[in-house]
Amino acid sequence: MPSTTKTICIDGQWRAGAQGQTIDVHAPSNGEKIAMLARGTQTDIDDAVGSARKAFDDVWSKTTAGERSRLLSALSARITDCAAELAEIEAQDTGKPMRLAKNDIATTARYFEFFAGAADKLQGDTIALLNGYQAMVNREPRGVVGHIIPWNYPAQMFGRTVAACLAAGNTTVFKPAEDACLSVIRMTELAHEVGIPAGVLNLVTGLGHEAGAALASHHDIDYMSFTGSPEVGTEIQKAAAAHHTPCALELGGKSPQIVFEDADFDRALPVIVAAIIQNTGQTCSAGSRVLIQRSIYDRFVTALARRISALKVGSHLADLDCGPLISAKQLARVQGFIERAHADGVPCIAKGSLDPSADSRGHYVEPMLFGPVDTQHELAQHEVFGPILAAIVFDDEQHAIEIANDTPFGLIAGIWTENGGRQMRVAKQVRAGQVYINGYGAGGGVELPFGGVKRSGYGRSKGFEALREYTVGKTIVINHG
Ligand code: NAI
Ligand code: MG
Repeated sequence: MPSTTKTICIDGQWRAGAQGQTIDVHAPSNGEKIAMLARGTQTDIDDAVGSARKAFDDVWSKTTAGERSRLLSALSARITDCAAELAEIEAQDTGKPMRLAKNDIATTARYFEFFAGAADKLQGDTIALLNGYQAMVNREPRGVVGHIIPWNYPAQMFGRTVAACLAAGNTTVFKPAEDACLSVIRMTELAHEVGIPAGVLNLVTGLGHEAGAALASHHDIDYMSFTGSPEVGTEIQKAAAAHHTPCALELGGKSPQIVFEDADFDRALPVIVAAIIQNTGQTCSAGSRVLIQRSIYDRFVTALARRISALKVGSHLADLDCGPLISAKQLARVQGFIERAHADGVPCIAKGSLDPSADSRGHYVEPMLFGPVDTQHELAQHEVFGPILAAIVFDDEQHAIEIANDTPFGLIAGIWTENGGRQMRVAKQVRAGQVYINGYGAGGGVELPFGGVKRSGYGRSKGFEALREYTVGKTIVINHG
């Protein structure tokens, strides 16, 4: 970790922001200042894009897929070697419980392993045409890719985006979130240590409306990948539109867990709880609505309430069910939802508890279960980004599908039923990028294509589909006579 505020890496060189300004980083568990970041601005972004362009033209686009594969494998191994250190950095920086941070680092290493293995398996197509012709579609890298990621899973999102991007032969300028990015800084160092050439991976720390906006509006970016709020997603698209830059957007969700009367309660309950409290609800694919069939509503909610009431919140070091939220801003946002729910008379069925030793300067909120929640209430419509679960009643299969689809989002869905026909009927009618039957995959599944429909965004990350996303088809036709 650079001990100074030289947290910007351009062309393999660490430097401070061109304007010399900095950003203080505070630990969510106790509010203490733990680091200072360089506050990159337009000049830094210009330099970083220039470096990425040069590295693409001169170096990376000339490597073979096998060479890229070996470098990404080496980075995966290096991340695994440094896993304990990286997990500590991630837990302190984000406030997430240690075991979750450890899991995130293992998943990050796995992303580099997966895309190292996939790099040289990407193949194009040949197309039957007229006699005397040979037509083919090659998959080519897009070029220079801009990445802007949020603070909830800095390490994992670095793996999810950078591994696929570099495997496909692109170079990148990476703008992590100002609230949490220390693991990303360390992994950028590791990437250079294992021999990823200078300029292939450029890192610019900074604020969204400065470094982020400069990157999204840059004329020399070939493809822009953003994960974060729908509001900023709109700004990204507007900025990219000026240069017709294609985008991929992952903008969160209001993902439903649909529990039918024949569901296996013992299987469903722990998964439904984990899907809302993981990372203290700060997960794009959090299962934040539980839709329950009327005939089992009381019984299921009672069992759910027992589990929610038993949940404990505390510092990342205490390693309890939940850590703090990332910032005072996010805490105020979540508390606003809770206060309005109380004011609107939405019954609060259960609430977890705060570890008495938790620091009063930390951004803590207890997990809560509200219900029954009206389908039009904001708890059923808006992404809270906290450990708040909304229970909703439905009558039959068609009603469940209607409610599931009745939000602006469409990221993930879970379906709980033992009826095979119903499993498939509902899976096909729910509008979402991923659907799980008798399970829920939030966060996992490096191999599984991931992304949204509707307001959850577009484009796919993870899995082999991500490699296609980071490439573009070029059709070549030969008239060989
Ligand atoms: P945000 O969307 O403002 O931040 C995400 C990233 O975008 C950060 O790197 C930030 O620096 C950057 N950014 C902000 N403004 C920008 C701009 N004008 N141009 C370019 N980049 C910009 O998210 P924020 O404010 O931290 O969280 C607010 C809400 O957004 C959360 O409560 C949650 O609902 C949602 N969110 C969803 C995430 C997801 O995984 N889908 C992740 C983070 C937030
Ligand atoms: Mg913001």
